[in-house]
Amino acid sequence: MAKIGNIDVGDFPLLLAPMEDVSDPPFRALCKEQGADVVYTEFISSEGLIRDAAKSTMKLDIYEKERPVGIQIFGANLESMLQSVEIVEKSGPDIIDINFGCPVKKVVSKGAGAGILKDIDLMVSLTEAMVKHTKLPVTVKTRLGWDHDSIKILEVAERLQDVGCQAISIHGRTRAQMYKGEANWAPIAEVKNNPRMHIPVFGNGDVDSPEKAKLMRDDYGLDGAMIGRASIGYPWFFREVKHYFETGQHLPAPTMKERLDAARRHLQMAIDWKGEKLGVFETRRHYTNYFKGIPHFKEYRTKMVTSDDSVDVFKAFDEVERDFADYEFA
Ligand SMILES: Cc1cc2nc3c(=O)[nH]c(=O)nc-3n(C[C@H](O)[C@H](O)[C@H](O)COP(=O)(O)O)c2cc1C
Repeated sequence: MAKIGNIDVGDFPLLLAPMEDVSDPPFRALCKEQGADVVYTEFISSEGLIRDAAKSTMKLDIYEKERPVGIQIFGANLESMLQSVEIVEKSGPDIIDINFGCPVKKVVSKGAGAGILKDIDLMVSLTEAMVKHTKLPVTVKTRLGWDHDSIKILEVAERLQDVGCQAISIHGRTRAQMYKGEANWAPIAEVKNNPRMHIPVFGNGDVDSPEKAKLMRDDYGLDGAMIGRASIGYPWFFREVKHYFETGQHLPAPTMKERLDAARRHLQMAIDWKGEKLGVFETRRHYTNYFKGIPHFKEYRTKMVTSDDSVDVFKAFDEVERDFADYEFA
């Protein structure tokens, strides 16, 4: 049984990865319904929170039904990170997660995200200060290292644990790899196998089938799997993995009715939460996967991803229902 602080997250939990513009309340709700055991918000800038930037504070919205939920923050300045912990606490999350893995230039260039992998002492002291500043469990999400020649994850994980970090999620790539190549889970397993480690070690990177999740659990011996891209437009991934764990069988693919229901609810929840314009825009990236595999679908998809008015997107869903009601997904 894995535990994050005092929170029981079950045996080999499946965690929804933090994903910018993806892991928002509507999508988290859908993933939770389909079996995600822990969900994380997308990363939120500590500097943005302190300035009270509307976009950052809105990302703090969480709902009872999605618990346990972690709010992820990033930054490299101690004072800003501590102040943002106080702001984040007011939203009542179950967990505060620190992003030490984001590889994008605008974050890294400020020494935040994966940028901190160049200064492990700072990474550890920031974590320690945050742990001391809150009663909530603090977790860390990071990568194997800055580049191939500087993989120090074994030492890093141990030091983070020693200063009170309550769980660590490790993406099996270095910053230099960005998203290229294959994720390497072997160093994550080394962290887990370190006899000094006692906090949960969650694996991340390329879990895109129930078989891979099983491999991460049984062959690599990790404490849980954090799932990102495989869930985009496919919240059913969580239930598929769980079903496979329980039975060794694959669940049939979600039906057209389930997909349409999810797409409609997703869009409606997004509009209710962030307004018509952003709701319509940011839900677009999910439609390709919601309706993947339907032949001659371009015309419908184009309507979904180019219409600025939700009425037209809902109409496109109705047309899909009318024209493909009996379509069976492989
Ligand atoms: C669209 C997108 C946005 C992401 N945003 C974040 C983020 O805000 N914070 C974070 O720690 N990682 C972020 N990531 C990285 C994922 O959490 C995850 O580590 C990565 O996608 C590898 O896992 P996967 O192979 O299961 O997708 C993002 C990834 C994607 C694809």
